[in-house]
Amino acid sequence: MFRLLLVFSVFPIVCSQLYGSTTYESIQEDANFEAFYDLLRHNGEAKNNLLNDEITIFIPTNEAFQRYGPILHSDLAFYHMASAARAIEDLKKTRNISCINPKFPPLWISRNGDDLYVNNAEVFSHNYYPSKSRTGEGGKPQIVYLIDRVLDPLIRLPHFKHTAFDFMGSFSKFTLGSTRKSVHSFLYKVQENNVTDLYEAQGGNTYFIPIDEGIGSKQFHAINRYSIYSHIIPNVVLFTRPTKRQFNYESLANDDFVYTVLSLEDNRKLYVRGNTILGKPSNPQGEFVVEILHPDIPVANGVVHVISRPLGVFPHSLKPFPYVSVLEKVASDPNLDTFYRLGEKFGFHSIFTAHDYFFTYFVPSEYAWRQIRKSDLQLVGSEVDLLKRHLVLSETPFSMERLLATSKTSNVTGVSLQTVGGLIKLHIHLIDGTYYIQWYNKLIRVTRPNYECSDGIVHVLAGPIATFQRNSFNFLALN
Ligand SMILES: *[C@@H]1O[C@H](CO)[C@@H](O)[C@H](O)[C@H]1NC(C)=O
Ligand SMILES: *[C@@H]1O[C@H](CO)[C@@H](O)[C@H](O)[C@H]1NC(C)=O
Ligand SMILES: *[C@@H]1O[C@H](CO)[C@@H](O)[C@H](O)[C@H]1NC(C)=O
Repeated sequence: MFRLLLVFSVFPIVCSQLYGSTTYESIQEDANFEAFYDLLRHNGEAKNNLLNDEITIFIPTNEAFQRYGPILHSDLAFYHMASAARAIEDLKKTRNISCINPKFPPLWISRNGDDLYVNNAEVFSHNYYPSKSRTGEGGKPQIVYLIDRVLDPLIRLPHFKHTAFDFMGSFSKFTLGSTRKSVHSFLYKVQENNVTDLYEAQGGNTYFIPIDEGIGSKQFHAINRYSIYSHIIPNVVLFTRPTKRQFNYESLANDDFVYTVLSLEDNRKLYVRGNTILGKPSNPQGEFVVEILHPDIPVANGVVHVISRPLGVFPHSLKPFPYVSVLEKVASDPNLDTFYRLGEKFGFHSIFTAHDYFFTYFVPSEYAWRQIRKSDLQLVGSEVDLLKRHLVLSETPFSMERLLATSKTSNVTGVSLQTVGGLIKLHIHLIDGTYYIQWYNKLIRVTRPNYECSDGIVHVLAGPIATFQRNSFNFLALN
């Protein structure tokens, strides 16, 4: 009987047959399962599963329930029951087993040496009990394992099985402590960089997701496809307890441009340590240590760890060229000469000393001005207004990808940009890999998008955002 557990659990016993009573009766009668029984008897559906189905059931010890902090909901019973009876040898070979309630993520199995874990709970692998759903004929096989932690999906009965991507979108539904946090910024960058598929992918991966508070505007700007890759360890589901410390796992950032390895580390708190090599191995390495705030959140496609800052984001070194300021860029690029001289002429450049903002500067190229001079066109409005209309000051600079994403989600109204000269509305198009800015009925090609600078971003345009009329007045004779 299960009653014997208390005596036997001190000694390793292998597999005691318990055909005398049903699993349910045993759980009901044995004081060692009191806490779990409390959960079960309030969950009619889970109880029904136990009375009728072939299952594997993981029962946390009473001590595990005592240690468990949050309020217990009977829904939690589901996440301790898996479909099909899995014998110990079978369990050791498996990576995941489905929860009897299909709306919960699978239970992830891992091993560390001889120790066996289900999610973050250790399975007392010497104490397990084959049993039956009912006595006599027709009883379905069931197997009971004892574990040392409560298995917590960290979400109350969800409506569907959440992937890591769904987790980011429904972050507030998860019970992750009392602090009010969100992960909108990282979600935004994932969407902007068109890598949502990595977070929706099937299989089992380890995902690190930074909270908004840890992403300053410089870092927001610096997060690109490569740094997002550094946040994923593919094809391995690393819950924190079974994972070896100081053991390097290759992240998805794993090519000639960026190579990042990650490992876990304990120092009273839990950290993820990473090493990024940029470009050639001879380049300087970047090392970072980031705190794990909420570890071990099971999802349909692996496990999520919420972290305090993004990983492997080095705003000043993740660039193949030295970082210059927006003004230095415009001053030093002969192709931007006309606009630079225009700015000098009107004392416009003093605005670039503002340090609390990032600049998004649309700069028409020399080619654009040559066309205009050739055609004898005259600018409508003043040259100062022209300059102002091309500059945006904001918390984060606008990459063309970000503008396109915003334009797509508001294609009737377009993107409203607060320029120094007032609000303008643009529509952004990506045609055959080339960006175009549409301003009223004027379509302007972006000849060099996203020139990243230390304090913002420059987009070089094939024409100014301006209206012209025919006139013989020689516009921009700046000699
Ligand atoms: C996003 O990725 C898909 C599939 O890889 C691709 O077809 C699409 O063009 C990409 N979009 C952008 C904006 O890069
Ligand atoms: C989950 O388990 C099933 C069945 O054993 C297996 O086919 C699948 O590959 C596993 N998935 C992962 C990500 O390990
Ligand atoms: C964008 O425009 C297309 C076609 O005009 C329309 O079908 C779609 O619903 C629009 N999307 C949004 C978000 O307004």
